[in-house]
Amino acid sequence: MQIALIGIGKIANYQMQAITHTPGIKLVDAHDLDANKAEELPGSVNFHDNLEKMLNKSAADAFLVSTPTPSHFEVAMQVIESDRIAIVEKPICTSQSEMDALLTAARTRKLPLYTAFHPAYGREVDWWREQRDAQNFDLGALLGFDTCFADPYYIDGKLTLGAVGKAGAWSDSGISGLSALSRLIDPNSMELVDGRMTVIPSLACSQVQGLAVYSFVEQNNMAYGMVDTNWTLGKNYKTTRLRYENGLVNLDHAKEIATLSLSGQDPLVFNLATDKPRLVNHYCGVFSDLTEMFGKGEDNTELSEVLHRLLFAALHH
Ligand SMILES: NC(=O)c1ccc[n+]([C@@H]2O[C@H](COP(=O)([O-])OP(=O)(O)OC[C@H]3O[C@@H](n4cnc5c(N)ncnc54)[C@H](O)[C@@H]3O)[C@@H](O)[C@H]2O)c1
Repeated sequence: MQIALIGIGKIANYQMQAITHTPGIKLVDAHDLDANKAEELPGSVNFHDNLEKMLNKSAADAFLVSTPTPSHFEVAMQVIESDRIAIVEKPICTSQSEMDALLTAARTRKLPLYTAFHPAYGREVDWWREQRDAQNFDLGALLGFDTCFADPYYIDGKLTLGAVGKAGAWSDSGISGLSALSRLIDPNSMELVDGRMTVIPSLACSQVQGLAVYSFVEQNNMAYGMVDTNWTLGKNYKTTRLRYENGLVNLDHAKEIATLSLSGQDPLVFNLATDKPRLVNHYCGVFSDLTEMFGKGEDNTELSEVLHRLLFAALHH
C-alpha cells in the first residue's frame, strides 16, 4: 500500500518512523501548507506545495490527513471529492453534522474511509485483551471503567504549545479514550448518561476539560464507566482502570504499564514498553491494521461512526 501525508507536524515524525517498521506500506508523497516542512521528509518522499496537484498526480492508494484537528473536515472532504481515499487522524472531524457529511460523501463515491485511532493500539491494551481472552486471571465480570486522558496543555492561565493543532481536551482526547475502550468493551452497547464540559471563552480551544459517563452492557448486565479528559492537571496522565468482581486492572497508556490487583493479593506489574517511543508503537498498530483492511477491501467507518457519535453526544448533553 502506498500512502501520501497531508500535514507534516509533530505527529508526522512518529507516523513516518512507524511506516518504516511496518511491512506492506510505503510513504511516497507529502504536502504541507508550510514548504519548509519538506526538510522533515526522507529523500524517497516527494514534497508537493499544492494539495490539489498532489491529489491529481500521486500514485498513492490513500491520503493520511494529519493537519490540525479543526481542518480535518475540510481537508478530508477535498480528498474524498477528488475521488481519492482518506485516512484521517482522530477525531475525524469536530461535529456530528460534519461526520454525517463525510460519511455521505465517501459512501456516495463507494470510497473506503479510515480513521487513525492510535491510542487503541497501546501495547498495554493489546496485552490485557490477550490475558482476558486466554482467561489467565480469574477476575470475574467487568463492573465498570474509569478512563482519564490528561495533557499539560493549560498552564498559568494560558494554552501551551502542545495545544497547537488540537481542537480541545474532550474533542481530541475523548475519542482517544473511547477508541482504547472499544477494544475492551463493545462500543455498540455504550450509551451516554452525562456529559460535562468546561469551556473558557477567552481560550482558543473548544474545551479545557471534558467528562462523560456512559452505560454499557456486560454479560447482560448494565454497567457504568466514565471518560475524563483534562488539560488543566499539568501532567501527561493517561490511564484506564477496569473494575472487575475480583479485582482491578490498571492500564497506564502513557507509560505502557499494566497493573493487575487481584483481591487480597499483591499487585502484579507488567512493563510493556519497548525501545521504540509509545507513539511509534501505536502507529505500527494503526498501519498494520490499515494495510490489512485495505487488502481485504474493508475500512473502519462503522466503528468510527459509533465512537464519534458517543464523542459528540457528550459535547451537547
Ligand atoms: N501531537 C500529538 O501528540 C498527536 C498525537 C496523535 C494524534 N495527533 C493528531 O494529529 C493531528 C496533527 O497534530 P500535530 O500535533 O502533528 O499538529 P502540528 O500543528 O504540529 O502540525 C500540523 C501540520 O499541518 C500543517 N497544516 C495546517 N493546515 C494545513 C492544511 N490545511 N493543509 C496542509 N497542511 C496543513 C501545518 O503547517 C503543520 O505542519 C491532529 O489532529 C492531532 O490531534 C497529534
